[in-house]
Amino acid sequence: MLNKTRIAVMVSGGGTNLQAIIDAQKNGIIKSGEIVLVVSNKKDAFALERAKNNGIKSYLMTSEEDLIATLKDERIDLVVLAGFLKILGSDFIKAFENRIINIHPSLIPSFCGKGAYGLHVHEKALEYGVKVTGATVHFVNEIPDGGRIIAQKAVEIHEGDTPETLQKRVMEQAEWILLPQAVEDISLKIAKGEL
Ligand code: GRF
Repeated sequence: MLNKTRIAVMVSGGGTNLQAIIDAQKNGIIKSGEIVLVVSNKKDAFALERAKNNGIKSYLMTSEEDLIATLKDERIDLVVLAGFLKILGSDFIKAFENRIINIHPSLIPSFCGKGAYGLHVHEKALEYGVKVTGATVHFVNEIPDGGRIIAQKAVEIHEGDTPETLQKRVMEQAEWILLPQAVEDISLKIAKGEL
């Protein structure tokens, strides 16, 4: 019997991606890992409410140093950035090398990097006039949205889409499917000692 991968999910906002991971744990899509901690840099993030409603411990981060110590104390094996909007420093990245993954709401390398987060990503896609966008799960390194790509899922842009209608479709048809599956895949690799 493999030990379950201990997962910390880092959030800053509504937490719909956190909810997707919580639901995937409940319905058996995620069976090689368990969320043991939710971390936020925003005390009013609704994602913290979701953690509380599901009996998951949460932690409001102060300094990156404290964050590293807390994650090590909790024996965290995998850090999942789910709508987390703070750029993490090199100490953090080094402390969890190849153990941090992020969901980005575009098909990287399009519409990513500095300033490309949340709704701005969809504004850029509509402005450029692309016909297809989507979401990407990738490892996190020191370049914003620069780490190795793990999975991607395409979503069509519809005539008359606004950034809001497009964000909703990308979440529903890509993010909330891609991230839980990637969390299971990476958790299994870690549990088997392959990562
Ligand atoms: C979403 O657009 C997601 O793609 C991005 O952050 C936004 C909010 O996500 N990473 P959530 O609802 O807080 O999970």
